[in-house]
Amino acid sequence: MQRLAGKDIFPQVQAKLAEEVARLSESGISVTLAVILVGEDPASQIYVASKERTCGELGIGSLVTRLPAETTQAELLELVQQYNEDPQINGILVQVPLPAPLDEDEVLQAISPDKDVDCFHPYNLGLLTAGLARFVPCTPFGVLQFLKHHQIPTSGKKIVILGRSNIFGRPMSILLSQKPWDATVTLCHSRTQNLAEECRQADILIAAIGKPMLVTKDFIKPGAVVIDVGINRIADPNHPKGSRVVGDVDYEGIASVASAATPVPGGVGISTIAMLMYNVVNAARFANGLEAFEL
Ligand SMILES: NC(=O)c1ccc[n+]([C@@H]2O[C@H](COP(=O)([O-])OP(=O)(O)OC[C@H]3O[C@@H](n4cnc5c(N)ncnc54)[C@H](OP(=O)(O)O)[C@@H]3O)[C@@H](O)[C@H]2O)c1
Repeated sequence: MQRLAGKDIFPQVQAKLAEEVARLSESGISVTLAVILVGEDPASQIYVASKERTCGELGIGSLVTRLPAETTQAELLELVQQYNEDPQINGILVQVPLPAPLDEDEVLQAISPDKDVDCFHPYNLGLLTAGLARFVPCTPFGVLQFLKHHQIPTSGKKIVILGRSNIFGRPMSILLSQKPWDATVTLCHSRTQNLAEECRQADILIAAIGKPMLVTKDFIKPGAVVIDVGINRIADPNHPKGSRVVGDVDYEGIASVASAATPVPGGVGISTIAMLMYNVVNAARFANGLEAFEL
């Protein structure tokens, strides 16, 4: 089974983006991402630090605002509005999940669609659905880069996606059913009957359900390509930290049946930030009347 590693693709994507940021800067266009983090969620703090670091590596300005968990909805909306109106800021990212009782949907919909680099706003999802995408949500976009880089055929192929979230499964299914991907897509979720049987039809199986190693050998059609988006931490007394990260797929278990698969960690994980940076660069280009940057 071929190992589809993220490091074979995304460092090069980031290098191209750094060059583009430098080119834009020479023509007087700066690129800046504003990130809002509310509360103390440890995973969110790690994600935000990692976005800040990547911005620095690419020459993208980052403005990170850390707010206490007690921040009110009105205060948060006011800050988003301030960033919407600030011409120096090209992209706005509110780190989710937000602490209760903040209304996540209202906050995400308050972000100007022109600066919605996560592509969570219904306006941008509507454009994507109509085949007119300006931004593409980062993780589905990352998966498309794996398919493109490895020239994995999708046209006329049967693709099964596990998980129907707005951040991954649903936009992934829409994109792959559109041109130029032209796949026949089945979108599965927790109410899907005979899940393993559905999955065994897939030429390409994409899992994003957050269930550690639920996808076993029995789910795989011989020769299928498997993309594992899941990130799950499980207890492991043999590991120095007492736990380790696994995907939604039993990577070792499927090795005798699948033709290629992404490992976890080391696969899709690093793609999301790279594609976020791509969206931020494009937001700056669009704001200055330029077309999307070709990767
Ligand atoms: N950068 C990255 O690599 C990245 C980015 C995003 C997400 N992720 C990971 O991807 C996984 C999914 O994330 P998400 O935000 O899309 O998840 P989510 O919002 O929790 O949605 C999970 C989806 O999986 C479905 N599901 C749950 N259990 C299932 C089962 N036993 N059989 C079939 N379907 C099942 C749910 O069905 P219902 O709709 O019926 O509830 C739902 O559609 C998580 O492990 C997350 O950490 C990774």
